[in-house]
Amino acid sequence: TSYSSALAFANQVGYPVLVRPSYVLSGAAMRVAQTPDQLSDFLQLATKVSQDNPVVITKFLTEAREVECDGISDGNYVLIGGIIEHVENAGIHSGDATMVIPPQTLPPATIEKMTDYSRQIALALNIRGPFNIQYLVKDGTVSVIECNLRSSRSMPYVSKTRGINLMTIASEVILGRQIKDIVKDLPPGNFVCVKSPMFSFMRLSGADPILGVEMVSTGEVACIGEDFYDALLKAMIAAEIRIPLKGNVLITVGGEDLKEQVIPVARELVELGFRIFATSHTADHMEVAGIKVIRLHKVSETKLEPNLLNCILKGAIQMVINLPLPSVVVEEFDNIMQDEYIIRRKAVEFNIPCITNIQLARAVVEAIKRQRDAKIKVKSLNEYHKQLKMTYW
Ligand SMILES: Nc1ncnc2c1ncn2[C@@H]1O[C@H](COP(=O)(O)OP(=O)(O)OP(=O)(O)O)[C@@H](O)[C@H]1O
Ligand SMILES: [Mg+2]
Repeated sequence: TSYSSALAFANQVGYPVLVRPSYVLSGAAMRVAQTPDQLSDFLQLATKVSQDNPVVITKFLTEAREVECDGISDGNYVLIGGIIEHVENAGIHSGDATMVIPPQTLPPATIEKMTDYSRQIALALNIRGPFNIQYLVKDGTVSVIECNLRSSRSMPYVSKTRGINLMTIASEVILGRQIKDIVKDLPPGNFVCVKSPMFSFMRLSGADPILGVEMVSTGEVACIGEDFYDALLKAMIAAEIRIPLKGNVLITVGGEDLKEQVIPVARELVELGFRIFATSHTADHMEVAGIKVIRLHKVSETKLEPNLLNCILKGAIQMVINLPLPSVVVEEFDNIMQDEYIIRRKAVEFNIPCITNIQLARAVVEAIKRQRDAKIKVKSLNEYHKQLKMTYW
């Protein structure tokens, strides 16, 4: 409730910390502070949004997986609709994250732990109806972000993937019925569902298509596939993201860590026959790792070719992988940040897929590798449901 206690708390738990005004939805005005100065700025913003209420500050976990559980409780029995894993690490709002049902990277023990926690939380809170719990998973430890006492954005996908209409059951439970009198809790089928977010950056003049803890998407679309990569490509196509199967990819990366992490992604793209274009610092790293790149001149170096902006404008780039630095270093690297913004913005304006997250970049490249020779098979939801032992629809 005071500036000094906020700063003391942040010092105690260590930066980064997540600042949120109380009682907001969709992460509105939530920010991740990397330094005390940023924390002060964000506290001002948070108090503007919600003046009379305290601000909540939490330790922001880096490199954590984010997972959700959608379910229904009747007070005695908890039906776990599904466990949903975010493709991106925690820090991208669940409305903006790419999601997959069932989880693809978590060990069974972690999933069991989350299922157990979800049951315990729903019963302890005496929930009668639908709920959604968001978790962080780091080094095998499962922590709760929040429990929403409502149906979630993901519940329609969970329902369709499971062949069980969770909303109908939740309504019946609210009216007093017991889950065991409505459905049998049978295991899901062996297909995979991916949700991909949709954005309206094109309609928002000048908006930076970068993702964070505050939700900025305006829609989403989910597709079912035979496996994760099949479902991912279908969902991205359905979200109007035209993932290229060949051509030129522009890679620009901020910070040493991400520059290292992007190397295997770039190498894979080269092996798949893509040509890599890069800005100077990223190009240095790639060349040291033995990856052939075409170096692009800065936007401001208008007379020097090949120029970053001209390449985008002429249609020479089919996909952009831009992994920006956390906002803390903005001032120090103002020129670079400006170029990065222009790359992202032009990608939006020219309808070039622009991937700004390393986990998603890895998944997309793997999907291109596995799927490019396979013809996408379209099946109706009914056909998938026929594979299930029981449906409630
Ligand atoms: N402690 C944390 N460490 C890392 N990331 C976090 C942490 N807490 C929240 N996040 C990230 O911030 C996002 C938004 O947080 P949260 O879900 O609490 O906000 P919300 O406004 O309640 O969202 P919703 O609209 O889903 O109810 C999460 O999806 C997650 O990616
Ligand atoms: Mg949330």
